[in-house]
Amino acid sequence: MNKINEITKGKAKSMFTTDNDDHLIMHFSDDTSAFDGKKKEALLGKGAVNNQFNAFIMEHLKNNGVENHIIEVIDSTDSLVYKLNMFPIECVIRNRASGSICKRLGTEDGLILESPLFEFFLKDDDLGDPLINDEHIISFGWANNDQIKEMKKQTYKVNEILSKLFLDSGLILVDFKVEFGVYKDKILLADEFTPDGCRLWDSKTMKKMDKDRFRQGLGDVVESYHQVADRLGINIET
Ligand code: ADP
Ligand code: TMP
Ligand code: ASP
Repeated sequence: MNKINEITKGKAKSMFTTDNDDHLIMHFSDDTSAFDGKKKEALLGKGAVNNQFNAFIMEHLKNNGVENHIIEVIDSTDSLVYKLNMFPIECVIRNRASGSICKRLGTEDGLILESPLFEFFLKDDDLGDPLINDEHIISFGWANNDQIKEMKKQTYKVNEILSKLFLDSGLILVDFKVEFGVYKDKILLADEFTPDGCRLWDSKTMKKMDKDRFRQGLGDVVESYHQVADRLGINIET
């Protein structure tokens, strides 16, 4: 499987065309970004751990009824995926308050929410990924009602499946972000599920094991990602 053209170079991944028009190669780089690209650094080995972590999570989700864009892992940093028309939207679920919601609502970090909270954000770094609601999505034509319902349904299912998976390994899934796209009229989970796009805390010590280590300058970012992978029994090839 050959990479032909790099069609997008994002903050952490690049997408390449292949000899099949329906397929892309998703390359995970070591680039790490936070605060909508305002803080950036290359962290050696992050691309490899995230590619293999993502493949494991996506396989687990598929086995539990959430279809997604992954076709196969190609090598340590690259996976073959279906080429989707992506919604310009980020779907977030929070089980506890942390990050932007604490600033927005003045909430204490770690507060357990009465029920999982779903939020949409517009994918636009220049605007700082603003919080939006269903009405914005409909009015601006970013998705229709059925598509909104389906994205929410699948995101809640991801939360249920992964909260259990992580808790069984002594980790609390505090919150996460996922993205969806359309492939042949079907809405599929796409992009990635890695410690770059979620918050994971050790359930005993509450130690942060995710990209907050980078955001907050806590150090040992890639090491923590490896520890999370180890706990899940993922064998990472470097
Ligand atoms: P960002 O765009 O936030 O800088 P990345 O560096 O992760 O993020 O770049 C990956 C890009 O590829 C994102 O814009 C994402 O929406 C897009 N993408 C993810 N999966 C697919 C897919 N299967 N088909 C097409 N685009 C995808
Ligand atoms: P937030 O607290 O910054 O709103 O983020 C909530 C969760 O979603 C957190 O795990 C980080 C993730 N996320 C991203 O990975 N990328 C984004 O652009 C946004 C808005 C959130
Ligand atoms: N994903 C965004 C970025 O890479 C926001 C964040 O993680 O803080 O900048």
